[in-house]
Amino acid sequence: LPGQPFINEPDTDWTVPANRTWIHDCRERRLAAEPEQIPVVIDGEEIGYDFRGTGSDPSRPGVVAYRYALAKMSDVNNALDVSERAFADWSKTSIDERKALLDKAAALIAAERGEILAAMTLDGGKSIVEADPEISEAIDFATYYARSFDALVNHSDVEAQPLGTFVVAPPWNFPFAIPCGGVLAALMAGNTVILKPAPQAVLCGWVLAQLLWKAGIPKDVLQFVPAPDNEIGKRLITSEKTAGVILTGAFDTAKLFQSWKPELNLYAETSGKNSLIITGAADLDLAVKDLVRSAFGNAGQKCSAASIAIIEAEVYDNPIFMQQLKDAAESLAVGSAWDPASVVTPVIQAPEENLSEALHSLKDGEEWLLEPTMVDNNPCLWSPGIRTGVKPGSWYHRTECFGPVLGLIRVESLEEAIAVQNDSQFGLTGGIHSLDPREIAIWREKVEVGNAYINRSTTGAIVNRQPFGGWKNSVFGPGTKAGGPNYTLTLCRWEQVALPS
Ligand code: ALA
Repeated sequence: LPGQPFINEPDTDWTVPANRTWIHDCRERRLAAEPEQIPVVIDGEEIGYDFRGTGSDPSRPGVVAYRYALAKMSDVNNALDVSERAFADWSKTSIDERKALLDKAAALIAAERGEILAAMTLDGGKSIVEADPEISEAIDFATYYARSFDALVNHSDVEAQPLGTFVVAPPWNFPFAIPCGGVLAALMAGNTVILKPAPQAVLCGWVLAQLLWKAGIPKDVLQFVPAPDNEIGKRLITSEKTAGVILTGAFDTAKLFQSWKPELNLYAETSGKNSLIITGAADLDLAVKDLVRSAFGNAGQKCSAASIAIIEAEVYDNPIFMQQLKDAAESLAVGSAWDPASVVTPVIQAPEENLSEALHSLKDGEEWLLEPTMVDNNPCLWSPGIRTGVKPGSWYHRTECFGPVLGLIRVESLEEAIAVQNDSQFGLTGGIHSLDPREIAIWREKVEVGNAYINRSTTGAIVNRQPFGGWKNSVFGPGTKAGGPNYTLTLCRWEQVALPS
């Protein structure tokens, strides 16, 4: 709330029957609505063309969930010109003005929680329990960035100068919170923004942009430009008018952007191949619970997900542990995201390449503890899979698959476990389950990740409490953490003004 210190927004309490009725009604309305037609919006002008992009509902493959326009090269050039002009005034607005707009945005997001959640179910196949905390996170980003930037500026003797136009290119797996965080951080620092939504999640980007305009962010300061991933999208990234790009996406995408423009001012959070170590000193009940949550939450489609468990031999060789892990994964309800009982919901699109490989084939002597199967004849809907006998250095150890698959690696010691965990080009999240403080201390010193989790799941970072961001090839740019005090800091330049002494 305006004038108040930051506190995290609570999630919805689903034990309250009225809340369950409310969300049921919101989702039914969205399900019954005609498919929306989403325009490109440049300087407030809605441009429709032929709406040749289509959005799908992973819970109902084949159904057109919405249609969207795709920008032409002339639109991108116009958007860049408009943004450059808008920067002249926006960059001179006061910190307090911008802070008030972010607070207003937070209030509107909170007021529209049900509608946003329903859009996320349609657009991303998100379950209620996955989508609801994401909306809390979006609200947190707004109120936190407003306050952290304010605090930074007011407590330093340097002036924060914004950089210009930022292109924000978010992912589809957190289709509301991540664009919300990127856009608002850039705006709070005094930059103008062109939001290019992920092609698989244009609706969520559209819902966000409309809310931010309603909050009072001028339409030339924030523009909405769904652009094809070809020369047109490339123009947004490489234009001399683009001062910075905030990307959350695959490592290969960040590399591609860099190959287009080596001097690009890129802030990217990219891929992970995260693992959770379970030692002989772990509370195994807790470890099973957290591992299953880390691996199969949002059907494993989180950059933070644990897709590998590195397990000490005495646990790995314990048939009771293996049975408990299998039972726990098997007990997760797999189904449509529209069914409130579903825990594992559809993946964003029918599996291709690495995910298809991980769901269909074993390699190098691996076996299924739990074989994944397609459910309800929906090519997007898969039950959890667990591969045993994964070898260090193997294809599965190395490859990000982004779906409901977990691989188990057997090791002889904590030292070996840490070596296997660190043997990755990525370093996003990592976890350990052990009740031995000496083991924890050794692990903390050696683990090579951005977010290190002890005796808990590896997903679900919380603004301010656990800012999120990686290390190694999981990060490009200054390495600042989303939801942390240094994030807005790097979206501007800091000018030291000295008077004669
Ligand atoms: N911030 C997301 C999480 O921590 C990716 O799960």
